[in-house]
Amino acid sequence: MRIAVVGSGYVGLVAGACFADLGHEVILVDNDHEKLRALSNGEVPIHEKFLPELLSRHRGHRLTFSDDLKEAVRLSSAIFVAVGTPPTEKGDADLSYVESVAREISGGIENYKVVIEKSTVPVYTSEWVRKIILRSGTDAESFDVASNPEFLREGTAVTDFLFPDRILIGCDSQRSADLLREIYAPLTDGSYYKRADAIPQPDRAAIPPALIITSTKSAELIKHASNAFLAMKISFINAVASVCESVGADVNQVVRGIGADSRIGRRFLNPGIGYGGSCFPKDVMAFRAVAHEYGYEFRLLDEVMRINEEQRRRFLRKIHDALWTLRGKRLAVLGLAFKGGTDDIRESPAIFLVQELLQEGSKITAYDPAAMDRARDVLNASVTFASSPYEAAKGADALLILTEWEEFSNLDLPRLRQELKYPIVIDGRNLYDPEAMAAQGFTYYSVGRPACLPDGVPTGVLKNGKKA
Ligand code: UGA
Repeated sequence: MRIAVVGSGYVGLVAGACFADLGHEVILVDNDHEKLRALSNGEVPIHEKFLPELLSRHRGHRLTFSDDLKEAVRLSSAIFVAVGTPPTEKGDADLSYVESVAREISGGIENYKVVIEKSTVPVYTSEWVRKIILRSGTDAESFDVASNPEFLREGTAVTDFLFPDRILIGCDSQRSADLLREIYAPLTDGSYYKRADAIPQPDRAAIPPALIITSTKSAELIKHASNAFLAMKISFINAVASVCESVGADVNQVVRGIGADSRIGRRFLNPGIGYGGSCFPKDVMAFRAVAHEYGYEFRLLDEVMRINEEQRRRFLRKIHDALWTLRGKRLAVLGLAFKGGTDDIRESPAIFLVQELLQEGSKITAYDPAAMDRARDVLNASVTFASSPYEAAKGADALLILTEWEEFSNLDLPRLRQELKYPIVIDGRNLYDPEAMAAQGFTYYSVGRPACLPDGVPTGVLKNGKKA
C-alpha cells in the first residue's frame, strides 16, 4: 500500500521505516529541508536500535522523503499524521501543527483516503481534523479520519512497533477499519515474523499481536490513559520508596512482593528519580487538561505529578545527607538521558539534577553513552564531559548514577573505587545491591533502601540509614 507519513520525528521516522519493512511504499513528509537532506544522505538523526538497519534497507526504494505534502497525499491511500503536539503554557496540547497539516492534506484528496492520527492527541482531535478537512471543501465521502496511537518506547521503538503488545485502531467506518487492518496484516497474520530478515524477536513478544478496534474517540483516550497509568505506577512506587526510607524497609523487596500479583505486575515499578522524557510529563498534563475541559477534575494526576517533582528534590536532599555542603565539591555524574538506551534529554531528571547541583556550586564531570552531545547544548559550559565512567569518577568526591543505562549496572567496582577520591555512590536508579556495594568498600545510597556503609567502617550512622 502507498502510505504517507507526515512528520519525521521519533514516531514518524520509526513508523515510516517499519511500514516500509512490512512491505508498504512509504513517503515520509517533512517541511524541514535540512532534516530531509540528512535523511536522504543516509544520516540517522536519533539513537534508536535497528533504525539504521531499516533506513539503509529501504531508503530510496520503499522509503522516500518529500516536502510536498499535497503530492504525497495524492499518491497515498493512508496518511499518518505524526507531527509534534507540544504542551502549551496551560499544559494542554498545542494542536496547531495538526491543524495546519489537516488543512494541507485536504488539498491533495482526489479519491478515498484515510487520515490517521499517529501523534498523541486529546480526545476530539479527530472530530476537529474532520471539520477542518470538510471546511476546505473536501467531499465527506472521500475521506475518513482514524486514530492509530503508538505505544513505542524510545530506545526500543522499532521492536515495539514490529512486536507490539497490541495494535490499536480507532475508526468510525468499516472502510477505514479495513484499510488499517490491511496495513497491519503482515503483523496480525504472523507473516512478518516468518521472514528471515525480520528484526529479531524480543523477550515476551506476543505473536501475533492483538488487534483492538475501537471508536476513534476511545482510541484517542486509550493513548492518554495508558501513559497516565504508567506514570501513576512510577509515582506510586516512588511514594512507596519514600515510606520504605522512613521505616527502614527495602523497596526492591516490596516490589518483588507486590509485583508477583499478576493483577499488579512487576513492570514499571522501578523506583528512581522520577519519570521524564517527551511523553509522560506532557501527556499526564494534557490528559488532566482535557478532563478538566470536559468537566472532570482528575486530581489523581495532580498527585502523580507532585510525587514526580518531589522525587527529584528528595534525591537532592539525599546528596546533601551524604556530602553535607556542595560548594566546590567534585561530583561524577553517570547518565544524562531521561532513561537508558536513548540520547534524548527532554525533561530528563538527570539534567534537572545537574543544573541544581551546579547552582549549588558543585563541579560536575559527566558521562553518558549517547546523550552528551545533546546535553552540551543545554548545560552550562562548566560541566566537563568524560569519555568513560572511570574518567568521570577520577578524583570525585562522590559518584551519582542518574540514568538506568545497562553499562552502568556492570561497572568494574574495584577500579571505580580507586578512581574516586571518596568511595561514595549515590544511585538514583537502584542499579546495585547495597550489601554488595558495602562489601566492595563503598558508602552506598539508593532509593527506598537503607544506606550502606563499607564493611567494618565505624561511623555514627546505623546500617538502616538512621543516625545513631
Ligand atoms: C513512554 C511509554 O512507555 C510508551 O508506551 C509510549 O508510547 C511513549 O511514552 C509515548 O507516548 O510516545 P518513553 O517516554 O520512551 O515511552 O519511555 P519509558 O520507557 O516509558 O520511560 C519514561 C520515564 O519513566 C523514564 O524517565 C524512565 O526512566 C522512567 N521510568 C520508567 C521509571 O522511573 N521507572 C519505571 O519503572 C519505568
